[in-house]
Amino acid sequence: MSLTHEPMPIAVLASGRGSNLKALIAARDAGTLPVRFALVASDRATAPALRLAESHGIPTLALNPKSYADRRAFDLDLFRRLADSGAKALVLAGFMRIIDGQALAPWHGRMLNVHPSLLPKYRGLRTHQRALDAGDREHGASVHFVTAELDGGPVIAQARIAVHEGDSADDLAARLLPREHRLLPAVTALLASGRLGLNEAGVTLDGVPLAAPLQLDNGGELIAA
Ligand code: GRF
Repeated sequence: MSLTHEPMPIAVLASGRGSNLKALIAARDAGTLPVRFALVASDRATAPALRLAESHGIPTLALNPKSYADRRAFDLDLFRRLADSGAKALVLAGFMRIIDGQALAPWHGRMLNVHPSLLPKYRGLRTHQRALDAGDREHGASVHFVTAELDGGPVIAQARIAVHEGDSADDLAARLLPREHRLLPAVTALLASGRLGLNEAGVTLDGVPLAAPLQLDNGGELIAA
């Protein structure tokens, strides 16, 4: 029996600038993320994330939602193509769309999303401003398994930052993003190593149910809460 594992083929979906994709590629290059990038896909042909992927020799795909009869038709075509790429897991890194449940179903337990809030707080958009408006003293980011519920799937791990007096939404975004860039590759590495699972009870790590989301420590390691 061989003890060496092939890197897991993954696909990344991104609608925008792609800084989280960049962090995933850097982690792969550093040897801390055992994946091969089978595809980077986007709903926006002009997304900088696609140019980034191309510059790293990663195959790309851009599909225009407006060319499809409806959202489900777009999602089913996109997710069929993701499967055809050979990807065994999917990572949403700033993919700004709600995804059809039927398209998602085959990827249950194999699809991650990074969201800039301490879920279950602040699903959806404008999370930094909403945390400020609520007077929160702490803010953060979450990586969760994707389900048909927007930003509602089981949370795997979180990174926390303090909210300072006088912070703007931009200040919070700027302080949180580098933490996202540690969080997402760390959780993706757990998935790629076969250590994460999802069952009726929730997330498992090495077969043991997680009582609470893992936390990213200051050294960039995931630790039990
Ligand atoms: C990140 O803040 C992520 O949490 C959210 O969208 C943003 C994507 O940024 N889902 P980038 O495109 O990875 O730079």
